[in-house]
Amino acid sequence: AVRCRAVPCRAVRCRAVPGRAVPCRAVPRPPGRPWPAARRPLVPGAWRRGAGCCRLPGDPFVACAPATSCSRPARLGRVLIKVHACGVNPVETYIRSGNYARKPALPYTPGSDVSGVIESVGEHVTAFKKGDRVFSIGTISGGYADYAVAAANRVFPLSDKLDFKQGAAIGIPYFTAYRALFQKGHAKAGESVLVHGASGGVGIAACQIARACGLKVLGTAGTEEGMNVVLRNGAHQVFNHREANYIDKIKEYTRMQGVNIIIEMLSNINLATDLHLLSCAGKVMVVGCRGTIEINPRDTMSKESSIIGVSLFLATEEERHECATALLDGIEAGWLKPIVGSEYPLEKVVKAHEDIIHSSGARGKMVLVP
Ligand SMILES: NC(=O)c1ccc[n+]([C@@H]2O[C@H](COP(=O)([O-])OP(=O)(O)OC[C@H]3O[C@@H](n4cnc5c(N)ncnc54)[C@H](OP(=O)(O)O)[C@@H]3O)[C@@H](O)[C@H]2O)c1
Repeated sequence: AVRCRAVPCRAVRCRAVPGRAVPCRAVPRPPGRPWPAARRPLVPGAWRRGAGCCRLPGDPFVACAPATSCSRPARLGRVLIKVHACGVNPVETYIRSGNYARKPALPYTPGSDVSGVIESVGEHVTAFKKGDRVFSIGTISGGYADYAVAAANRVFPLSDKLDFKQGAAIGIPYFTAYRALFQKGHAKAGESVLVHGASGGVGIAACQIARACGLKVLGTAGTEEGMNVVLRNGAHQVFNHREANYIDKIKEYTRMQGVNIIIEMLSNINLATDLHLLSCAGKVMVVGCRGTIEINPRDTMSKESSIIGVSLFLATEEERHECATALLDGIEAGWLKPIVGSEYPLEKVVKAHEDIIHSSGARGKMVLVP
């Protein structure tokens, strides 16, 4: 058996696995402060490397720590997934910073979009069995890890048409794009959509879905490479949002008619100008926002336009089911093909979080590979 290096190791979660040549790097439990019961080792021998486990709000990550065992998977309605890849979403950096409305229980391991293989299933789980390939849109224990526990109703079968990295790029991005376009934006075939920030996870998803559903798709990206990715993934036309006159180019392209819907990834920068890019009764779907912005409400009156917030977090069970059905169909039909941009090993999660916020140019979804 591999032995923990810490002598004496006071980590409740220290469980070195026989046959595995990795020493335990468990963070010692602070004296007098027990780990929360839910995080104690429950499955003898099951071992989980967790990265990005913050112990205080805003804490920089403890890379590749702590070593923990898996939470008991056999609880009602849950599955244990051997993680092969995990998508990185910007919201995970907001939550980690401690400035987000949703405060997680600490210690917190981020990660909702895992893909991998079912290791075990809990009682009453009939949809999956050990060995099934799956992806998730939410985890209970955190996806930046070797293993993750998830509620079975947040897990879906992963088609053989997609690899695990692509599987990790589906969850939040595609469900959000579908929700923004149809559940909140009520998009219809024949309408036009501007995906403002189309080169990242949600943007590429929105382009693929909108194109497959018969919309005219305009996208933006900040680099040449990003623009090419957008064009290859459903956009009829692409613009560079780092260019000074790109708004005029969009207006010109639409012959001053504007677009019916804007899927907005950076509202705090673009909302005011978006209102000038809409057609009559057009809608801006606020998907991403990182601060405040001043707008002139009069700009909504002249075209009776709407500004609509989108939050995947508020989707009902029924709405999630609707998204899943449409997206699984898209995978089968072949138009839903997640694009993986950059990948990082689990140990480089700090860099991944820096890069997703200070991006030099997205070209698909960012994933972690344990
Ligand atoms: N409301 C919800 O439920 C929900 C769900 C998921 C995500 N989100 C939010 O949606 C946003 C996008 O998420 P993501 O996963 O797609 O992130 P991402 O993969 O990091 O992509 C970010 C996108 O924003 C673009 N961008 C950068 N500067 C821009 C500008 N000035 N104008 C327009 N776009 C710009 C980037 O383009 P370049 O890199 O090419 O410049 C890239 O396409 C994030 O703010 C995220 O928090 C919200």
